[in-house]
Amino acid sequence: MRSTFKKAGLALLAPSLVAASPLAKMAKRDASDYTDNAVCSADALMKYYQTDNTGLWGKDLWWQSANFMTSLATLTSLNSDYLSEHGDVFANTFDTATGYGNYANFLDNFYDDEGWWGNAWLDVYDVTGNQTYLQAAIIIYQDIINGLGTPCGGIWWSKDQTYVSAISNGLYIELAAGIAARVGQDQVSDYLPNAQQAWDWFFSVGLIGSDNMVSDGVDKDNNCAPTGSKFTYNQGVILGAAAELYKATGNQTILEQAAVLANASSAAGSAITDSNGILHDGCDESDNCDSTAAMFKGPYIRGLAKLQLAYPHDNWKDFITTNAQSIWNNDLDFEQSDSGSSCSLGQDWAGPYDTSTAITQGAALDALNAALAVTQ
Ligand SMILES: *[C@@H]1O[C@H](CO)[C@@H](O)[C@H](O)[C@H]1NC(C)=O
Ligand SMILES: *[C@@H]1O[C@H](CO)[C@@H](O)[C@H](O)[C@H]1NC(C)=O
Ligand SMILES: *[C@@H]1O[C@H](CO)[C@@H](O)[C@H](O)[C@H]1NC(C)=O
Repeated sequence: MRSTFKKAGLALLAPSLVAASPLAKMAKRDASDYTDNAVCSADALMKYYQTDNTGLWGKDLWWQSANFMTSLATLTSLNSDYLSEHGDVFANTFDTATGYGNYANFLDNFYDDEGWWGNAWLDVYDVTGNQTYLQAAIIIYQDIINGLGTPCGGIWWSKDQTYVSAISNGLYIELAAGIAARVGQDQVSDYLPNAQQAWDWFFSVGLIGSDNMVSDGVDKDNNCAPTGSKFTYNQGVILGAAAELYKATGNQTILEQAAVLANASSAAGSAITDSNGILHDGCDESDNCDSTAAMFKGPYIRGLAKLQLAYPHDNWKDFITTNAQSIWNNDLDFEQSDSGSSCSLGQDWAGPYDTSTAITQGAALDALNAALAVTQ
């Protein structure tokens, strides 16, 4: 599927734009030009690829790199031009990234890390049609189910069996349902009952509060009571899981349950949005998130976009485009010259721009991809 497309980067050098301005630093594109904005942002993310020849993006960003691969696979699925430019990234990451930490088959000590990689390989399978990537996701799934059986039900967060997290469970549901939706009919029953059972557990264990916001986990030492903050990614991954489970079952109830969580969290002034409806994890408002929390908003908006494609709602579409446009208008360091443009995107989607890293770049790319996907 590669090498027949023109380089996507060329689209950025629209002759009219180059000729129109006498200035070396030209005006940035419109915030609603989601295709070119996403491509420019993905190009900036790719500058971090192969740091230390790890097959990862940036330094010591293991699970985050699974997120970046999903972002690139998503952009590739929306804009096939991009495959010709960076299509070899998937195979290279598959071959070399496990060398980092000797994580054979993308397995490490954390079931959420494994879930990110498993779901990322499903995304790569979707754009390449290469069965090797579906098999990789299945191998990861088979390791994750060893983490079932906590005293609260569900999957452990890590192999140390200390904590029952929402994130490892949300990713497990998305992966189990996602595999069920992609394998042959004769294999569906290996995955789908687990996905449905874990879904029902997620909605009954107490993770979801009366405000319809997902807590970080449940406390095995305190009667499995909900514990921890309300982070964007816990809320978003379960929305993507709903889309996959609906794809595998056609069960409308799943979409309705997810819609309640999507409405509550995407409304302006929710626990994870400001009064203008811009998504936040708190720390980003002072550009102070660590390399974990700075990633979170990406999976939220990806999950909401997946749900939107399965179950369209104008309020979610508005939320997604509002956030993508806010990033472009308020949280961007943009340079354009004759040789192209560069788009550095920061941590606080409401702005102002501070600094950018592979993580802020990847999370913001998720928002631009999401806007592209839901407006196409
Ligand atoms: C499928 O992906 C694997 C792993 O990247 C690669 O080795 C193999 O050549 C690919 N197969 C095809 C037909 O492209
Ligand atoms: C549809 O999903 C709901 C919620 O998870 C579940 O209770 C119900 O049993 C499902 N229906 C079928 C036919 O599987
Ligand atoms: C979600 O919000 C939309 C817009 O207000 C509304 O039409 C829809 O019924 C809501 N869905 C649920 C499940 O609350």
